[in-house]
This record gives sequence, structure tokens and C-alpha cells, in this order.
Amino acid sequence: SGMFTYDPGYISTASSSSEITFIDGDEGILLYRGYPIEQLAAQCDFIDVCYLLMNGELPTSEQKTSFDNTIKNHSMLHEQLVKFYTGFRRDAHPMALMVGVVGALSAFYHEAMDITNAAHREQSAFRLIAKLPTIAAMAYKYNIGQPFIYPRNNLSYAENFLHMMFAVPTEEYKLNPVLVRALDRILILHADHEQNASTSTVRLAGSSGANPYACISAGIACLWGPAHGGANEACLNMLEEIGDVSRIDEYIQRAKNKDDPYRLMGFGHRVYKNFDPRAKLMRETCHEVLNELGLQNDRLFKLALQLEKIALEDEYFISRKLYPNVDFYSGIVQRALGIPTFMFTAIFAMARTVGWVAQWSEMISDPNHRIGRPRQLYTGITMRNIPSAALRK
Ligand code: CMC
Repeated sequence: SGMFTYDPGYISTASSSSEITFIDGDEGILLYRGYPIEQLAAQCDFIDVCYLLMNGELPTSEQKTSFDNTIKNHSMLHEQLVKFYTGFRRDAHPMALMVGVVGALSAFYHEAMDITNAAHREQSAFRLIAKLPTIAAMAYKYNIGQPFIYPRNNLSYAENFLHMMFAVPTEEYKLNPVLVRALDRILILHADHEQNASTSTVRLAGSSGANPYACISAGIACLWGPAHGGANEACLNMLEEIGDVSRIDEYIQRAKNKDDPYRLMGFGHRVYKNFDPRAKLMRETCHEVLNELGLQNDRLFKLALQLEKIALEDEYFISRKLYPNVDFYSGIVQRALGIPTFMFTAIFAMARTVGWVAQWSEMISDPNHRIGRPRQLYTGITMRNIPSAALRK
């Protein structure tokens, strides 16, 4: 017996207190450590944002240089870990590789097991932020059968990732600053989002005292699903499937039909019920990138704009407060950058790692943190006695 608040899906339960990220879903406000996402996207780069999320304040220029160098120093993978890839099927989904390889980091850094040591915790955080781009890019190279490209310390975080993705040993890869900036913005916009499903997963896993690599691997597993980080991949697949403006109505009708579980991917959010401020910024970046590449008439972008317009005028979407979310546009931007659809969620994981790590550290450094242990509403059979074998049906 015992009475608990029954809240499936945690619609009205705060699982933790946190000083990191604030969201006002009705007003469309998103703040990292108090700073509006619009200002961060305009004035900061991803390294500033990482420092801010981890430390609570933006870095001075010396602090930034030192932080940036630390991240660069940790960007290589141990050669034994590089071999890990070859154990996977050659066409493995990058997220399958990420769950495995990030989890396997726990086997390489034994000191990380001691989470009571703040210096070790910080070291694990640096390693995770530094290695995720390398791990993700290698997952891509492995999938397409190209040689791994090692990280370069003369490049910025976003530049380095693009380099590891697109460089080949036989040719220099030329970085385009507009595209670098677009990727950096994707990283900033996805860096943290308070107690979303994957962050809650990281916290719950971490609440037992598990090591940070195992916890972040759990977060990556949760992020994979199409209702969460998998939505950007699902959204682009949906646009490809719709294919033409003339078929939009058919898909809108399907999404509205209560007998059909189909949903418009990239629409709706648990918290944002007015608009998703990240979607606005992403749409802006989308225009910039398509202009830069001369793709203003991109078929899928036009389709997306039209779909957005029709959905926003439809009573079904209006009454349920369903607006395009960040993933609606991030897929189009990534596609324009030349990133294939199956890599989208891995890039989300790379961006969210700093948020996961900051939230995990916040929880562990709180001396009052306890293991997360939800209760349930038992709906099974009440106590009974085992009948003799002859009487069993
Ligand atoms: N298309 C059609 N109908 C929808 C959609 C959609 N995308 N999203 C919600 N609805 C309907 C839903 O059927 C329900 O209708 P009714 O009240 O008539 O039963 C109502 O809107 C409320 O939906 P819900 O499922 O109770 O809302 P939720 O807060 O549990 O789910 C969500 C939020 C994001 C999972 C959901 O909107 C969804 O599945 N969206 C599509 C997937 C997506 O784009 N996810 C990315 C989220 S943003 C990035 C991230 O944080 O990972």
C-alpha cells in the first residue's frame, strides 16, 4: 500500500533542482545560466557555451584559451578504442556505434570510477566533450568505408568535426566559414535543454553512482528514439517521403487522424506551447546556408516551408499548440552541409554531451543527492496462493 502521485510521462513532476537551464514554454524563452539563447547564438561560440554550462559563467579570454586547449588535448581516441569500431557490422548505424564506444570509454579511464573526486569528474567531462566529435566522425567514416581522419588541433571544435567528417587522405578539405558557423550554431542550440528524456536518463543512471561514461552512453541510447533526438532524422525522411508540395495534404490528414498513429515529425514539444526559440534561430541559419550554397530553391526546404505554413493554419495543430521544433529545420541545414540523414542524431548527441555532463556534475556535487527511485501504481493481481498443478488452467 502507500499513496504516490501518479504522473506518467512526468507531466507535472520536477525530478531535480538545477541552476543550469531555464525554459518558459509559454513565452518561448530558453536561457543557459541566465543568458538568452538568441544572444548566445549571436555572440558566442560552442566553446564559450560549454564553459558557461559547466562553470556557470562565460570565460574570460584567458580562461577560454585554456579551456579550448584542454579540450583539444583530449580529442584523440586511444588506438585500442579505434579498433573497437571494426567489431561492428560495416553498415552499423552511427548511434549504435556511439552507444558502444562511449560506454567503452569507462574501460580506458579507470580513475573515472571514483566520482567522489571533483578533479576526476572534471577530467571525465573534458574527455567526453573532446572525444565525442572524434567518435561520431569515425562512426561515419566506418559506415561509408573511408579511412578515419584524426583530429587536428589547429582547428576550432566545429571546424575539426567537419574536417574529420569530410576530409580524405588524398585531398585537402576546404572549410567554408558560413557552414562552420551553421554547425557551431546547431551545437549551441542543442547543448542543453533542462530535464528532457535523455538528460533525465543520465541523471537517473548517475544517481546510483555509475561512472560518467556509462551514464552518457545511457543518455545517447535514450536520445536515439524518434520522439527525442531521432526526430531530426525522422523529419528529413518524412520530407523525402512526402516528396512534393501536392502531397502535403495527404500527410496532414494522416497526422490528424486519431486512428492512425502517424505524427508530423519536427512538430510539437512537451514544453514549448507557443514557439520553440531554437526553431526560429535554426530557420534563420537555414536561409543563410542555402543562400551561401545557392540552394534557395532546394526542394525539401520549399516543402518544409509550405508544410509549416499549412500546419500553422490548421485548427488541429493550432488547438494542440503544435509548432515546428528545432529538429524541423536542423535536418535541412545538416543536409545542406553534406551530412547524411543517418548522422543527424549522432551530431545531436555530440552537442548534448556538454549538457549531460554539466547536469551530471551538478547532481553529483550536491551533497544531498540520492538515488532516483520512482514508485509505481500497481495494477496487477492482488495476493493469491499457488494452486496445485492439477488445478492450474
Ligand atoms: N503530429 C500530429 N499530432 C501530434 C504531434 C505531431 N507531431 N505531436 C503531438 N500531437 C498531438 C497528439 O496526438 C495529442 O493529440 P490529442 O490530444 O488529440 O490526443 C496532442 O497533440 C498532445 O500530444 P502528446 O503526445 O500528448 O504530447 P507530448 O508532450 O507527450 O509529446 C512530442 C511531445 C515532442 C513527443 C510530440 O509532439 C511528438 O511526438 N512530436 C513529433 C516528434 C518530434 O518532433 N520530436 C522532437 C522534439 S524536439 C527535440 C527534442 O527535444 O528531442
